[in-house]
Amino acid sequence: MIQTIKWEKNCIYIIDQRKLPGIKEWLVCRTFQDVIAAIREMAIRGAPAIGVAAAMGLALGSQSIKTEKYKTFMRRFLEMAERMKLARPTAANLRWAVDRMVKIVEKMSDNNVEEIKSTIKKESQVILERDIEINFRIGHNGQGLIPDRATILTHCNAGALATGGYGTALGVIRAANEAGKNIRVIVDETRPLLQGVRLTAFELMEENIPVTVIVDSAAGYLMRKKMIDLIITGADRIASNGDMANKIGSYQLAVIAKENKIPFYVAAPLSTFDLDLKNGDLIPIEEREPGEVISFAGHIIGPEGVDAFNPVFDITPAKYISAIITERRVIKSPYKSSIRNLFATEDVIGTDMK
Ligand code: MRU
Repeated sequence: MIQTIKWEKNCIYIIDQRKLPGIKEWLVCRTFQDVIAAIREMAIRGAPAIGVAAAMGLALGSQSIKTEKYKTFMRRFLEMAERMKLARPTAANLRWAVDRMVKIVEKMSDNNVEEIKSTIKKESQVILERDIEINFRIGHNGQGLIPDRATILTHCNAGALATGGYGTALGVIRAANEAGKNIRVIVDETRPLLQGVRLTAFELMEENIPVTVIVDSAAGYLMRKKMIDLIITGADRIASNGDMANKIGSYQLAVIAKENKIPFYVAAPLSTFDLDLKNGDLIPIEEREPGEVISFAGHIIGPEGVDAFNPVFDITPAKYISAIITERRVIKSPYKSSIRNLFATEDVIGTDMK
């Protein structure tokens, strides 16, 4: 399983996902600004992975704050935290990780600055390690939903690369495969940056899980032809009513799935939930460079000067979601109450990782 991010000798190493699968190259981030750029330019992407990168980026940035005074340290750290939150707007995990780091610094006002720096560096490592454990749990909890011999459609990349490791949606697929189920995966290419064909197909081939790539617009045809048994995606943010934001194109998959009576599952950790939001319409949707739309694999394909619009996430209303798979358990509609109960229970791993 490919590793996404690591900390070595005071630098953060990120596997540069823009170059995969052709080139496996570590991008070296020596400063806080390097990490922000890596997130913004999508050298690292996927909601949980950018949460881990944000935590590590803040820990790295804190090393460069030259003061012994707690107040000065805190002021500079908060400035960094605010800048980090702006790197990408949609994924809840990024804000979650930043807020978690800030809370730790807030609690350490009686400690000296060197102790604080060392604690938050350790914490960023804990966030990475716990994310991998959480994904194993999501996989374990979700694999029961996958029948033997199922053909599963997935969108974008919610795999090891999008997380600390193992993956959310791909974690469930991996766990079903490890449980001996004979499964096949259909992955759509995921325009404009092709995370499906480049990253998901690559991860599944590494695991020897049979995978077939389709163009995004073929998904409806395959569903109507009964060539898909279920769909599973990750999520970037889930509102308190169960509406969720995920890679652009998820909404249309969910609607066509319902029309064809195909279950549409979402796999995500608790850190992806945003309980402050009443519904999905309040989730900020990132819009990226129009140039991504008129290019294919780095080559401009549109006529010079053509207008383009590039929202990179969409909202799938809860009514289209058959179940949400988390590290605690699988929840179903009515989501308002099942999400409330999910966060009310104290159990197993990760209660302190809410
Ligand atoms: O723009 P990206 O590649 O960061 O979008 C990623 C997705 O939409 C994933 O499905 C989502 O972050 C869940 S990853 C476990």
